[in-house]
Parts: sequence; structure tokens; C-alpha cells
Amino acid sequence: MRVLLTGANGYIGCVLAPLLRDAGHRVIELDSDLFADCALLPYEVHRDSVSMDVRDLQASDLAGFDALVHLAAISNDPVGDLNPQSTYEVNHRATVRLAALAKEAGVGRFVFSSSCSLYGAAGDRLLDERAAFNPVTPYGESKVLAERDLSQLADERFSPTYLRNGTAYGLSPRLRADVVLNNLVGFACTTGEVRMQSDGTPWRPMVHIRDIAAAFLAVLNAPREAIHDESFNVGRADGNYQIRQLAEIVERVVPGSRITLAESAAPDPRSYRVSFEKIGRHVPEFRPSWTAEAGAIEMRDALLKSEVSIEAFTSSRFVRIKRIRELIELGAIDSSLRRIAANGSREASPAAVLATSSPGA
Ligand SMILES: NC(=O)c1ccc[n+]([C@@H]2O[C@H](COP(=O)([O-])OP(=O)(O)OC[C@H]3O[C@@H](n4cnc5c(N)ncnc54)[C@H](O)[C@@H]3O)[C@@H](O)[C@H]2O)c1
Repeated sequence: MRVLLTGANGYIGCVLAPLLRDAGHRVIELDSDLFADCALLPYEVHRDSVSMDVRDLQASDLAGFDALVHLAAISNDPVGDLNPQSTYEVNHRATVRLAALAKEAGVGRFVFSSSCSLYGAAGDRLLDERAAFNPVTPYGESKVLAERDLSQLADERFSPTYLRNGTAYGLSPRLRADVVLNNLVGFACTTGEVRMQSDGTPWRPMVHIRDIAAAFLAVLNAPREAIHDESFNVGRADGNYQIRQLAEIVERVVPGSRITLAESAAPDPRSYRVSFEKIGRHVPEFRPSWTAEAGAIEMRDALLKSEVSIEAFTSSRFVRIKRIRELIELGAIDSSLRRIAANGSREASPAAVLATSSPGA
């Protein structure tokens, strides 16, 4: 398939792009490069890539693609809270606009990176995809609104699919320190403290980024009738953990570390446990393989090898809200998180890059 991947240079995107290429898809990458220099491991942006804001795309930019995989977003609660209007603009309105343009351009599939955070404050019950939404942040609500309106575009020519990823963890060239398991491992490796930011009782569905990437690939490969206008919780059957359980795993795998409570620790209303049964039924090719323990060990080994300090781990290199504040202060982006171009020029169109790309690239 000819795939346009938005958000390709993010935490998940730079793991997903090579996976799709290795599976034989022809992938054009698009990103507004908010985290261009924020890498843990060496990472080269692929030559078939475009630096562009999804808000600037036109239907002609999407000609020739079979599928759009849409990751680009304001992608966590702290950044989402910074300017809620922009969060709704990018995550909801720009997503729906992009899907409408894709449909107009004849793109048949639109795989949307949604989130289990749309379940919000949901307690201990096991939620399947029919559960009520109860988002507690602009980020969570923006995903609810996007799914609702994308569904209105579904018809015999256009198949949107909503992948409700659990809370991601795991090693990526563009590592994030602001997701819970990575954060716990990073603190343990650099300070010896497994520092919990809440009382540890909230539930989270946890999923490794390579399992998330495998879900996107499996959905692209699945027959249309299995994924048409369907939402799927993405993770594995035993993937629900309380934060306290994650902390205990980290304490076990990082020698000499011990659990502590951050001074700023506050009750966290976000708590949800989800069922992952539906994706296994509709998309049997998807077989998630990572556990939180295996992910914590992988992360521990990478962090110890790269000798990252606590100052680096908690800096704008790995913490998205700090990076965004820094870019605003530097005048590189405006408050709607749009890049302020030096010369106002527009990059090549994704359709033009597709036309000159080679099938096996
Ligand atoms: N990481 C998680 O725990 C998690 C969980 C569930 C869902 N998701 C979703 O998966 C997707 C990817 O998440 P991630 O963790 O890789 O996020 P990320 O912040 O690491 O990457 C997002 C990428 O999108 C780009 N981007 C942002 N706004 C853009 C715009 N207007 N135009 C073009 N590019 C833009 C950024 O530059 C960045 O490279 C997001 O939609 C996120 O909501 C993430």
C-alpha cells in the first residue's frame, strides 16, 4: 500500500515507519518536527519525508495514497492543557478535515491514533469499546470528538478505523520521559528512586510502542470489512496494571532502587481498565508480545548504557511540555503550536514525494 504517515517523527511514529516499510508498504512521512532534536538514539529522518503541519494539507497533497495513518497530534494531557483551543483544533478539527480531504482524494483507509484516555475516570470495571466515554482532559475529549466525526465520513469508499492505544511505554529513538513506565524506570536508573506521582491506585492499560506499531500494520493488512468504522482497544489481555504494580516491577528490575512518593503526588482521577478482546477477534494477525516487565528491562538497559543523567532525563529533550514551552519562548512556534516559518515557503507536497519515491524504498 502507499501510505501517508503523519506524526512520523514522534515517539511512536519513528518506530512505526520502519516497520511499515519492512512489511513492503511505500511510506511517505509527514511531521511538523516539534521534537526534531529530541533523540536518545541516532535516528535519520527518511528521505521520503515532508516537514509540514497537517493543518496546511490540501486534497491534492493526498492524491495517489491508499491509506492515511494519522498519528500527528498534541499527544498528552500536559501539552493538551497548555492551550485547550489548539488541542481541539489539531486533534479534533484538523483530524476530521484531513479525513474529509483524504476521502475527496480517493484514499480508502484512514487509521486514526486514538487513545484509551477517552474512557477517563472509569474506576475498576473492565471496559470494552462500547463503554461510555468520560474524558477528564481536553486531550481525552479531543479524541472522543474526532472519533465521533470521523465515523460520519465512513461509507463504501472510505473506511476510518480508531485505534485506542493504551498508555505507551518502551524504547524509541525519540524516547519520552513523560509516560508513566518510562518515567518510573528513568528515575530509578538515575536516582535510585522509583518515584510515584500519584497514590498508585489508578488503573492504566499499558502497551509497548512496538505492539502499537504492530496493531497499525495488522489493521492495514486486515480485510476492509473487519476494520471499517471500528474502534479497537490496543494492548494485550494481561496489560492492565495499577501504577503501584508498575512501580513494584521497576523496583524489582532496577537493582538497588526503592519506591517513593513524589512530594507533588496528588490523587489522579484518570483510571481505566480495558478489554483487549475485540482486536484479537477482528484482527487476528495482531499478536502483542510485550509485557511491562520486559519493557522496563529494555528501558533500564538502554538508559544505563547511554548514561543519561536525571537532569537530561527530565529536560526538554524527553519531556514534551518542556520542549513545547521552550519552542514558544524561542519564537519557533506560536501558541497554537504552529511553526513560525523563516521564509513562509511550503515544502514539497506529499503527493509529489510519493510520485518520485521508489516502491522498494
Ligand atoms: N504515547 C502514548 O502513550 C499514546 C497513547 C495513546 C495514543 N497516543 C496517540 O498516538 C499518536 C502519537 O503519539 P506519540 O506518543 O508518538 O506522540 P509524539 O508527541 O511523540 O509525536 C507526535 C508527532 O506529531 C507531530 N505533530 C504534532 N502536531 C502536528 C501538526 N499539527 N502537524 C504535523 N505534525 C504534528 C509532532 O511533531 C510529533 O513528532 C498521538 O495521536 C497520540 O495521541 C499516544
